[in-house]
Amino acid sequence: MRTPLVMGNWKLNGTKESVATLIKGIESAANAATNVEVAVCPPAIFIEQVANLTADSRIEFGAQDVSTNVAGAFTGETSPVMVKEFGAKYSLVGHSERRQYHNETDAVVAAKFVAIQENGLIPVLCIGETLEERETDKTFAVVETQLKAVVEVAGIAALENSVIAYEPVWAIGTGKVATSEQAQEVHAHIRSWLKAQSEVVAEKVQILYGGSVKANSAKELFAQADIDGGLVGGAALIIEEFVGIIEGAK
Ligand code: PGA
Repeated sequence: MRTPLVMGNWKLNGTKESVATLIKGIESAANAATNVEVAVCPPAIFIEQVANLTADSRIEFGAQDVSTNVAGAFTGETSPVMVKEFGAKYSLVGHSERRQYHNETDAVVAAKFVAIQENGLIPVLCIGETLEERETDKTFAVVETQLKAVVEVAGIAALENSVIAYEPVWAIGTGKVATSEQAQEVHAHIRSWLKAQSEVVAEKVQILYGGSVKANSAKELFAQADIDGGLVGGAALIIEEFVGIIEGAK
């Protein structure tokens, strides 16, 4: 059995005050949900604050993105080594907003995946199709291409110690959540694609659904056989919503 994981992706949001309020607001629900893993991915500048605030709780944290480089003349970047030093467990990689606004190719995503693992963090690999790709029946081909790019560089065994987040681009930040059937269909496809290469990886890897998850849609999504939790954007900034999503994963 895979333990469900509920992960908040705060994106470019927060103040010192709101970060403290949010962590305090979700802490008791996270501590009580002993069969659910809970994590948040704040903007890099809040990582130390989150590390301090979560030190005595079950809440884990991660970066939203890291550099492929560990140190050097790379202005504006965040090193996976630095993120690890502050106690992070995860880093997202290949979020559709990184792919779209920062031109991150599959090759860059694969290099980042390797850098994240090499420096002791767990990569949360985000994949998913656009609306146009879904409407032209390319969903499976798109997720396979995105997975293959990483497997070719990192090797299939590397995925055993990773998390995959299926996030249809048309559902991100749009309020249009995929139906549980639509999501399960793709999750099952991802798992069978992995299984063809490694049964161990397919059994072990948590595949999260992301895209407009809310407290009222979480339970049904997470009840699907191949959905092992959620990567949550907007609703992760609202205490009652995120707590409801944690409850939905119990
Ligand atoms: P959303 O974002 O929940 O606001 O759709 C999810 C994500 O981008 O990870």
